[in-house]
Amino acid sequence: MNETNLTILLELKHPIIQAPMAGVTTPEFVATSAEAGILGSIGAGYLSANETRQFIRDVKERTKKSFAVNLFVPERVEVDPLYLRQAYEALQPIGKQLGLPFWEVTLSESEFDRQVEVVVEEGVKICSFTFGLPDEKTVRLLKGNDVYLIGTATTVEEAKLVEQAGMDAIVVQGSEAGGHRGSFAGEITMIPLVELLGAVVATVQIPVIAAGGIANKEMMGKALSAGAQAVQIGTAFLAADESGAHPLYKQATLDAEVGCTVLTKAFSGKTARGIRNRFIIEMREEVIAPYPYQNDLTKKIRKEAAKQGNTDFMSLWAGESVHLSTSEKLKAIIGKLI
Ligand SMILES: Cc1cc2nc3c(=O)[nH]c(=O)nc-3n(C[C@H](O)[C@H](O)[C@H](O)COP(=O)(O)O)c2cc1C
Repeated sequence: MNETNLTILLELKHPIIQAPMAGVTTPEFVATSAEAGILGSIGAGYLSANETRQFIRDVKERTKKSFAVNLFVPERVEVDPLYLRQAYEALQPIGKQLGLPFWEVTLSESEFDRQVEVVVEEGVKICSFTFGLPDEKTVRLLKGNDVYLIGTATTVEEAKLVEQAGMDAIVVQGSEAGGHRGSFAGEITMIPLVELLGAVVATVQIPVIAAGGIANKEMMGKALSAGAQAVQIGTAFLAADESGAHPLYKQATLDAEVGCTVLTKAFSGKTARGIRNRFIIEMREEVIAPYPYQNDLTKKIRKEAAKQGNTDFMSLWAGESVHLSTSEKLKAIIGKLI
């Protein structure tokens, strides 16, 4: 066991955080993580406030240990309806391939503020954020209720903003990471984990958590030696038995080869790393609406593709170490890391 200030504070046996993965984390997945002595996190980004409450209760039924809830900080984005129409039309050839010549699109609305209230009401003691920072009022409310706050940064500048906003710890997300970039200030910058970690540790006072491409003991040791107080792992847990990922998505991670992941905005309008597939290739030159609109536009495609078992058009989010994935009980995967 590697004891750090953070593991003592969060009462963890091991300095590992099971990455919140919206759409993948299940109550069983989060509770198993907590029971194994690491920090389980609910990926609540796409959930309504009521769904978030239910998810929290489902985890509480399975473990008495603490766990985190991860929220997407909403962004205000203006979009020209004409541009939205063009982005929708750009998706039609793919829709046709799935037998969807036309589909209705519902624009989603973030329930962030109500989710924050649910976190407080349900007595959750750890809350993490990505895609930005909560405002002062939210920080005050959460801290007033003894909630430990974790922000996400992809550059040193963002790390400084995270610290200034009053977060208690910070996840630094290296360029290797699977899923969406947590970037929120300035251009998307792709900095490898080791480099970013060194720079952030030298700049901020709060505990730093390393994320991106960590998939074995050696990589974890390297991050901890470079000053991280814990690591946050997503991809290496994707194919675990308890993960809610589609069986074919799990299989894609098990079949993955070195260098098979790319960055794309095509699924959601926000830059994310996933396994290259036909959707990403066919959308390369097309009009893409900003996040969250593109996410709303492609929702039906992704759902239909999953229903048909067609991985060509599913989002297969994964980090650069996806070729190291194994399919086992989550506890066994964690066991190999410690
Ligand atoms: C499938 C998937 C979904 C993710 N969803 C979220 C999320 O909802 N919230 C979040 O903060 N990070 C999310 N991430 C990013 C992780 O927090 C973390 O940065 C990343 O998994 C680390 O890199 P790795 O996947 O190589 O371990 C996601 C990552 C993956 C692979």
